[in-house]
Amino acid sequence: MDYQAILNVIQKEFSPHEDMGKVAGYIPELEKVDPLKFGVYLYCQDGSSFQFGDSQEKFSIQSISKVFTLTIAKELLGRDLWKRVDVEPSGTPFNSLTELERESGVPRNPFINAGSIVVADALLTVLENPERDLLKFVRKLCGDDDIFYDESIYKSEKSHGYRNKALVNYMKSLGNIENDTEKVLEFYFYQCSLAMNCEQLSKAFMLFANEGLHFQTGEKVIDKQSVKRVNSIMQTCGFYDEAGEFSFRVGLPGKSGVGGGIVAVHPEKYAVAVWSPMLNEKGNSALGMKVLERLTTLTGFSIF
Ligand code: DON
Repeated sequence: MDYQAILNVIQKEFSPHEDMGKVAGYIPELEKVDPLKFGVYLYCQDGSSFQFGDSQEKFSIQSISKVFTLTIAKELLGRDLWKRVDVEPSGTPFNSLTELERESGVPRNPFINAGSIVVADALLTVLENPERDLLKFVRKLCGDDDIFYDESIYKSEKSHGYRNKALVNYMKSLGNIENDTEKVLEFYFYQCSLAMNCEQLSKAFMLFANEGLHFQTGEKVIDKQSVKRVNSIMQTCGFYDEAGEFSFRVGLPGKSGVGGGIVAVHPEKYAVAVWSPMLNEKGNSALGMKVLERLTTLTGFSIF
Protein backbone atom coordinates (compact mmCIF):
# COMPACT_ATOMS: atom_id res chain seq x y z
CA MET A 1 0.00 0.00 0.00
CA ASP A 2 1.48 3.36 -1.00
CA TYR A 3 0.32 5.37 1.99
CA GLN A 4 2.40 8.41 1.09
CA ALA A 5 0.73 8.63 -2.34
CA ILE A 6 -2.66 8.43 -0.63
CA LEU A 7 -1.72 11.13 1.89
CA ASN A 8 -0.51 13.32 -0.98
CA VAL A 9 -3.90 12.98 -2.68
CA ILE A 10 -5.64 13.88 0.57
CA GLN A 11 -3.41 16.91 1.13
CA LYS A 12 -4.23 18.16 -2.36
CA GLU A 13 -7.95 17.55 -1.95
CA PHE A 14 -8.38 19.32 1.37
CA SER A 15 -6.78 22.63 2.08
CA PRO A 16 -8.12 24.15 5.28
CA HIS A 17 -10.17 27.32 5.02
CA GLU A 18 -11.74 29.27 7.85
CA ASP A 19 -15.38 28.42 7.21
CA MET A 20 -14.78 24.72 7.90
CA GLY A 21 -15.59 25.10 11.57
CA LYS A 22 -14.72 26.98 14.73
CA VAL A 23 -11.70 26.72 16.99
CA ALA A 24 -12.82 25.79 20.55
CA GLY A 25 -13.75 29.01 22.36
CA TYR A 26 -14.84 27.87 25.81
CA ILE A 27 -11.20 27.41 26.83
CA PRO A 28 -9.87 30.91 25.96
CA GLU A 29 -6.26 29.80 25.36
CA LEU A 30 -7.40 27.31 22.72
CA GLU A 31 -8.99 30.13 20.75
CA LYS A 32 -5.52 31.57 20.08
CA VAL A 33 -4.50 28.59 17.93
CA ASP A 34 -4.16 29.21 14.19
CA PRO A 35 -7.28 27.59 12.65
CA LEU A 36 -5.43 26.78 9.44
CA LYS A 37 -2.95 24.37 11.02
CA PHE A 38 -3.20 21.00 9.34
CA GLY A 39 -1.08 17.90 9.74
CA VAL A 40 -1.24 14.11 9.46
CA TYR A 41 1.10 11.35 10.64
CA LEU A 42 0.53 7.67 9.93
CA TYR A 43 2.67 5.03 11.61
CA CYS A 44 2.51 1.45 10.31
CA GLN A 45 3.00 -1.77 12.21
CA ASP A 46 6.07 -2.56 10.07
CA GLY A 47 7.77 0.63 11.32
CA SER A 48 7.27 2.73 8.19
CA SER A 49 5.72 6.17 8.58
CA PHE A 50 4.11 8.79 6.36
CA GLN A 51 3.13 12.40 6.96
CA PHE A 52 2.33 15.84 5.68
CA GLY A 53 1.83 19.40 6.92
CA ASP A 54 2.09 20.40 10.58
CA SER A 55 2.63 16.86 11.81
CA GLN A 56 5.54 17.89 14.06
CA GLU A 57 3.84 20.81 15.80
CA LYS A 58 2.47 20.18 19.26
CA PHE A 59 -1.13 20.94 20.15
CA SER A 60 -3.39 20.42 23.13
CA ILE A 61 -4.54 16.80 23.11
CA GLN A 62 -7.57 17.50 25.34
CA SER A 63 -9.98 14.53 25.30
CA ILE A 64 -7.52 12.26 23.51
CA SER A 65 -5.89 12.03 26.95
CA LYS A 66 -8.97 10.16 28.17
CA VAL A 67 -7.73 7.07 26.33
CA PHE A 68 -4.43 7.14 28.24
CA THR A 69 -6.03 7.58 31.66
CA LEU A 70 -8.60 4.88 30.92
CA THR A 71 -5.84 2.47 29.91
CA ILE A 72 -3.92 3.07 33.15
CA ALA A 73 -7.05 2.90 35.29
CA LYS A 74 -8.14 -0.35 33.68
CA GLU A 75 -4.78 -1.92 34.47
CA LEU A 76 -4.78 -0.72 38.07
CA LEU A 77 -8.44 -1.21 39.00
CA GLY A 78 -9.57 -4.05 36.75
CA ARG A 79 -13.28 -4.78 36.88
CA ASP A 80 -13.93 -2.45 39.80
CA LEU A 81 -13.68 0.47 37.41
CA TRP A 82 -16.87 -0.58 35.62
CA LYS A 83 -18.88 -0.24 38.84
CA ARG A 84 -18.28 3.50 38.61
CA VAL A 85 -18.44 4.17 34.88
CA ASP A 86 -20.47 2.44 32.19
CA VAL A 87 -19.56 1.56 28.59
CA GLU A 88 -22.63 2.76 26.69
CA PRO A 89 -22.65 5.47 24.03
CA SER A 90 -24.25 8.58 25.47
CA GLY A 91 -25.82 10.15 22.41
CA THR A 92 -25.34 13.50 24.14
CA PRO A 93 -22.59 16.16 24.02
CA PHE A 94 -19.24 15.50 25.69
CA ASN A 95 -19.98 17.87 28.57
CA SER A 96 -23.60 16.92 29.15
CA LEU A 97 -25.06 16.80 32.65
CA THR A 98 -28.46 15.38 31.77
CA GLU A 99 -28.07 11.60 32.16
CA LEU A 100 -26.22 11.82 35.44
CA GLU A 101 -29.35 12.46 37.47
CA ARG A 102 -31.30 9.61 35.93
CA GLU A 103 -28.35 7.25 36.16
CA SER A 104 -27.40 7.97 39.78
CA GLY A 105 -24.09 9.66 39.06
CA VAL A 106 -22.63 6.78 37.03
CA PRO A 107 -21.44 8.30 33.74
CA ARG A 108 -22.40 6.55 30.52
CA ASN A 109 -18.81 5.96 29.40
CA PRO A 110 -15.20 6.96 30.20
CA PHE A 111 -14.88 9.34 27.23
CA ILE A 112 -17.53 11.90 28.07
CA ASN A 113 -16.23 14.48 30.53
CA ALA A 114 -18.15 13.02 33.48
CA GLY A 115 -16.71 9.57 32.80
CA SER A 116 -13.16 10.76 32.47
CA ILE A 117 -13.50 12.79 35.67
CA VAL A 118 -14.48 9.57 37.48
CA VAL A 119 -11.44 7.84 35.94
CA ALA A 120 -9.27 10.76 37.14
CA ASP A 121 -10.71 10.37 40.62
CA ALA A 122 -10.02 6.63 40.59
CA LEU A 123 -6.38 7.27 39.61
CA LEU A 124 -6.05 9.88 42.33
CA THR A 125 -7.08 7.25 44.86
CA VAL A 126 -4.55 4.62 43.78
CA LEU A 127 -1.58 6.71 42.65
CA GLU A 128 0.56 8.92 44.84
CA ASN A 129 1.47 11.22 41.97
CA PRO A 130 -0.93 10.67 39.04
CA GLU A 131 0.45 13.58 36.99
CA ARG A 132 3.97 12.15 37.08
CA ASP A 133 2.78 8.61 36.34
CA LEU A 134 0.58 9.69 33.43
CA LEU A 135 3.38 11.69 31.86
CA LYS A 136 5.79 8.79 32.31
CA PHE A 137 3.30 6.40 30.70
CA VAL A 138 2.64 8.62 27.69
CA ARG A 139 6.34 9.34 27.15
CA LYS A 140 7.09 5.64 27.30
CA LEU A 141 4.29 4.76 24.85
CA CYS A 142 5.68 7.01 22.14
CA GLY A 143 9.36 6.53 23.02
CA ASP A 144 9.85 10.27 23.38
CA ASP A 145 10.49 12.31 26.53
CA ASP A 146 9.74 15.60 24.79
CA ILE A 147 6.17 15.77 26.08
CA PHE A 148 4.96 18.31 28.65
CA TYR A 149 1.75 19.85 29.83
CA ASP A 150 0.86 23.34 28.63
CA GLU A 151 0.51 25.53 31.69
CA SER A 152 -1.38 28.33 29.96
CA ILE A 153 -4.02 25.92 28.64
CA TYR A 154 -4.21 24.28 32.07
CA LYS A 155 -4.77 27.60 33.82
CA SER A 156 -7.22 28.76 31.17
CA GLU A 157 -9.40 25.71 31.61
CA LYS A 158 -9.05 25.78 35.37
CA SER A 159 -10.43 29.30 35.53
CA HIS A 160 -13.23 28.68 33.00
CA GLY A 161 -14.22 25.04 33.45
CA TYR A 162 -17.61 25.72 35.01
CA ARG A 163 -19.32 22.71 33.47
CA ASN A 164 -16.67 20.34 34.69
CA LYS A 165 -16.97 21.91 38.15
CA ALA A 166 -20.69 21.24 38.03
CA LEU A 167 -20.12 17.65 36.89
CA VAL A 168 -17.60 16.77 39.59
CA ASN A 169 -19.64 18.36 42.36
CA TYR A 170 -22.82 16.68 41.20
CA MET A 171 -21.15 13.28 41.07
CA LYS A 172 -19.62 13.92 44.50
CA SER A 173 -23.12 14.56 45.88
CA LEU A 174 -24.22 11.23 44.39
CA GLY A 175 -21.28 9.36 45.97
CA ASN A 176 -19.22 8.63 42.84
CA ILE A 177 -16.23 10.87 43.61
CA GLU A 178 -13.86 9.78 46.38
CA ASN A 179 -11.38 12.65 46.51
CA ASP A 180 -11.50 16.39 46.98
CA THR A 181 -13.29 17.78 43.91
CA GLU A 182 -10.68 20.51 43.32
CA LYS A 183 -7.88 17.94 43.31
CA VAL A 184 -9.78 15.71 40.89
CA LEU A 185 -10.31 18.61 38.48
CA GLU A 186 -6.68 19.67 38.75
CA PHE A 187 -5.59 16.23 37.56
CA TYR A 188 -8.29 16.15 34.87
CA PHE A 189 -7.25 19.58 33.54
CA TYR A 190 -3.62 18.47 33.65
CA GLN A 191 -4.28 15.42 31.46
CA CYS A 192 -6.26 17.55 28.97
CA SER A 193 -3.46 20.11 28.73
CA LEU A 194 -0.77 17.66 27.61
CA ALA A 195 0.73 18.89 24.34
CA MET A 196 1.76 16.38 21.68
CA ASN A 197 2.24 16.30 17.93
CA CYS A 198 0.73 13.94 15.36
CA GLU A 199 3.86 11.80 15.26
CA GLN A 200 3.88 11.27 19.03
CA LEU A 201 0.17 10.53 19.11
CA SER A 202 0.23 8.00 16.32
CA LYS A 203 3.18 6.20 17.92
CA ALA A 204 1.48 6.16 21.32
CA PHE A 205 -1.71 4.75 19.82
CA MET A 206 0.19 1.94 18.10
CA LEU A 207 -0.41 0.14 21.39
CA PHE A 208 -4.01 -0.33 20.26
CA ALA A 209 -3.04 -1.36 16.72
CA ASN A 210 -0.31 -3.71 17.87
CA GLU A 211 -2.04 -6.10 20.32
CA GLY A 212 -0.86 -4.12 23.35
CA LEU A 213 2.83 -4.30 22.43
CA HIS A 214 5.11 -1.26 22.42
CA PHE A 215 5.63 -0.13 18.80
CA GLN A 216 9.43 0.05 19.17
CA THR A 217 10.53 -2.42 21.81
CA GLY A 218 7.83 -5.06 21.38
CA GLU A 219 7.37 -5.06 25.16
CA LYS A 220 3.88 -6.08 26.30
CA VAL A 221 2.32 -3.00 27.88
CA ILE A 222 -1.29 -4.22 28.14
CA ASP A 223 -2.92 -7.52 27.20
CA LYS A 224 -5.05 -8.21 24.13
CA GLN A 225 -8.21 -8.18 26.21
CA SER A 226 -7.53 -4.59 27.28
CA VAL A 227 -6.86 -3.60 23.67
CA LYS A 228 -10.21 -5.08 22.69
CA ARG A 229 -11.99 -3.20 25.46
CA VAL A 230 -10.39 0.19 24.82
CA ASN A 231 -10.81 -0.05 21.04
CA SER A 232 -14.46 -1.03 21.50
CA ILE A 233 -15.12 1.99 23.67
CA MET A 234 -13.33 4.25 21.18
CA GLN A 235 -15.50 2.80 18.41
CA THR A 236 -18.79 3.34 20.23
CA CYS A 237 -18.06 6.41 22.39
CA GLY A 238 -14.95 8.16 21.05
CA PHE A 239 -16.90 10.94 19.33
CA TYR A 240 -19.79 11.46 21.78
CA ASP A 241 -23.03 12.19 19.92
CA GLU A 242 -21.15 11.82 16.66
CA ALA A 243 -19.76 8.32 17.37
CA GLY A 244 -22.20 6.75 14.92
CA GLU A 245 -21.30 9.24 12.21
CA PHE A 246 -17.55 8.69 12.68
CA SER A 247 -18.01 4.93 12.61
CA PHE A 248 -20.22 5.19 9.52
CA ARG A 249 -17.82 7.43 7.65
CA VAL A 250 -14.42 6.17 8.81
CA GLY A 251 -14.97 2.62 10.07
CA LEU A 252 -12.14 2.69 12.62
CA PRO A 253 -11.96 3.16 16.39
CA GLY A 254 -10.72 6.63 17.25
CA LYS A 255 -10.69 9.50 19.70
CA SER A 256 -11.01 13.23 19.25
CA GLY A 257 -10.15 16.28 21.35
CA VAL A 258 -11.28 19.90 21.24
CA GLY A 259 -7.71 20.90 20.42
CA GLY A 260 -8.59 19.61 16.93
CA GLY A 261 -6.75 16.31 17.10
CA ILE A 262 -8.14 12.92 16.12
CA VAL A 263 -6.31 9.62 16.45
CA ALA A 264 -7.64 6.49 14.75
CA VAL A 265 -6.44 2.92 14.87
CA HIS A 266 -6.50 0.17 12.29
CA PRO A 267 -5.67 -2.98 14.29
CA GLU A 268 -2.65 -4.82 12.90
CA LYS A 269 -2.05 -2.11 10.32
CA TYR A 270 -1.50 1.44 11.58
CA ALA A 271 -2.33 4.31 13.91
CA VAL A 272 -2.95 7.72 12.37
CA ALA A 273 -3.21 11.17 13.92
CA VAL A 274 -4.73 14.23 12.24
CA TRP A 275 -4.73 17.80 13.50
CA SER A 276 -6.97 20.58 12.26
CA PRO A 277 -8.27 22.89 15.01
CA MET A 278 -11.57 23.89 13.39
CA LEU A 279 -14.35 21.94 15.09
CA ASN A 280 -17.82 20.99 13.94
CA GLU A 281 -20.85 21.62 16.17
CA LYS A 282 -20.22 18.33 18.05
CA GLY A 283 -16.73 19.45 19.11
CA ASN A 284 -14.81 17.17 16.73
CA SER A 285 -12.30 18.29 14.09
CA ALA A 286 -14.34 18.84 10.92
CA LEU A 287 -11.44 18.41 8.53
CA GLY A 288 -9.96 15.61 10.62
CA MET A 289 -13.09 13.52 10.07
CA LYS A 290 -13.02 14.19 6.33
CA VAL A 291 -9.35 13.19 6.08
CA LEU A 292 -9.90 9.91 7.89
CA GLU A 293 -12.97 9.11 5.83
CA ARG A 294 -10.94 9.66 2.70
CA LEU A 295 -8.05 7.57 4.05
CA THR A 296 -10.20 4.47 4.62
CA THR A 297 -11.95 5.02 1.28
CA LEU A 298 -8.74 5.37 -0.71
CA THR A 299 -6.98 2.46 1.01
CA GLY A 300 -10.12 0.34 0.75
CA PHE A 301 -9.61 -0.91 4.31
CA SER A 302 -11.47 -0.34 7.53
CA ILE A 303 -12.24 -2.78 10.34
CA PHE A 304 -15.54 -3.67 8.69
O1 DON B 1 -13.20 19.03 29.67
C1 DON B 1 -13.25 19.63 28.59
O2 DON B 1 -14.27 20.17 28.21
C2 DON B 1 -12.01 19.63 27.72
N1 DON B 1 -10.84 19.71 28.54
C3 DON B 1 -11.94 18.40 26.88
C4 DON B 1 -13.14 18.21 25.98
C5 DON B 1 -12.84 17.58 24.68
O3 DON B 1 -11.71 17.53 24.23
C6 DON B 1 -14.00 17.10 23.86
N2 DON B 1 -13.58 16.50 22.62
N3 DON B 1 -13.76 16.62 21.47
